[in-house]
Amino acid sequence: MRAVLRDRYGPIHALRVEEVERPVPGEGEALVRVQASSLNRADLHSVTGMPRLARIGIGMTGPRFPLIGLDVAGTVEEVGGNVRGLAPGDEVWADLSPVGSGAFADYVCAAEGIFSPRPAKIGFEEAATMPHSAILALQGLRAWGRPISPGHQVLINGAGGCVGPFAVRIAKSHGAEVTGVDSTAKMDLLRAVGADHVVDFTREDVTRNGVSYDRILDIATHRSVFDFRRSLTPDGTYSMIADGLGDLFGAAIFGSLFSIRTGRRMGIAPWKPNDRDGLAHLSDLANQGVLEPVIDRRIGLEEVPIALLDLQQGRTLGKVVVGI
Ligand SMILES: NC(=O)c1ccc[n+]([C@@H]2O[C@H](COP(=O)([O-])OP(=O)(O)OC[C@H]3O[C@@H](n4cnc5c(N)ncnc54)[C@H](OP(=O)(O)O)[C@@H]3O)[C@@H](O)[C@H]2O)c1
Repeated sequence: MRAVLRDRYGPIHALRVEEVERPVPGEGEALVRVQASSLNRADLHSVTGMPRLARIGIGMTGPRFPLIGLDVAGTVEEVGGNVRGLAPGDEVWADLSPVGSGAFADYVCAAEGIFSPRPAKIGFEEAATMPHSAILALQGLRAWGRPISPGHQVLINGAGGCVGPFAVRIAKSHGAEVTGVDSTAKMDLLRAVGADHVVDFTREDVTRNGVSYDRILDIATHRSVFDFRRSLTPDGTYSMIADGLGDLFGAAIFGSLFSIRTGRRMGIAPWKPNDRDGLAHLSDLANQGVLEPVIDRRIGLEEVPIALLDLQQGRTLGKVVVGI
């Protein structure tokens, strides 16, 4: 089978597409023919090994798995012994984060528990945009066990990337009034996915606009949690989708301290990849047409390196889908 791979952390141009042996499913595993995959910012991290936080789980000194790619939607081809929940022909989706990676390939092989039924009313390409990014959005918005209610003011900082557009759509599906913050080039995209208000961070500081938000999801993480403190309602929540170690510790330590002293809650967004309930909820939303992804373009395996370079340099608008 063909696969995109690398031997060490380094520049994107060191990626190559090669013929590798097709995996054989072992006990409890399923082999899935990849119908589509999609690019995430996390794929860049697994190629470059930066920020270092990203190396936890994939190898501190070098990549433990040569293949890359997290999001997958595909069809079960073969199952190993003792597989009870999947059969050949089943259509599934998954985030491969817990098993390494390998979605930019013709086939993936992993424990059956990684895979869930994909939403039936959308195509494989649309489904492949969601398992990693949309679950991050959903779990970030549900953090602290305080759900979004109709009329809530919700702020999504960094709303125009891989995760943000799903966060806007999910918040809107709860009846919230949503403000999306991103760069000038992303303003139309934010309006297109339903943001009620858009803020260009290059021109305006959203933490000084006098508005208090019930829920803040911070995906951009380019500023201190202290800045957002002044923008929370008395029982508001702030969740950060952390990128680097500094963000992680800053939000975890200062956010917790701040939470203790007030009714507000601030800290790192929880992340449980392939959470069954979460994916089932996303599947319902997708089937209802609520979660329509923004697709920048569709590419083949050979174009993955150039598309990752575009993602790294901020030249993509929405998700890049890899059709196998
Ligand atoms: N538990 C966790 O916290 C967890 C788990 C897994 C993964 N992650 C990480 O979470 C991140 C997911 O984010 P993503 O994939 O949506 O990233 P992304 O695609 O890079 O989106 C971030 C967006 O923020 C914008 N932005 C840049 N500077 C900004 C600023 N100062 N203010 C507002 N917006 C700004 C970016 O615009 P430009 O493109 O124009 O710069 C981009 O549109 C990844 O880095 C991933 O590694 C976190």
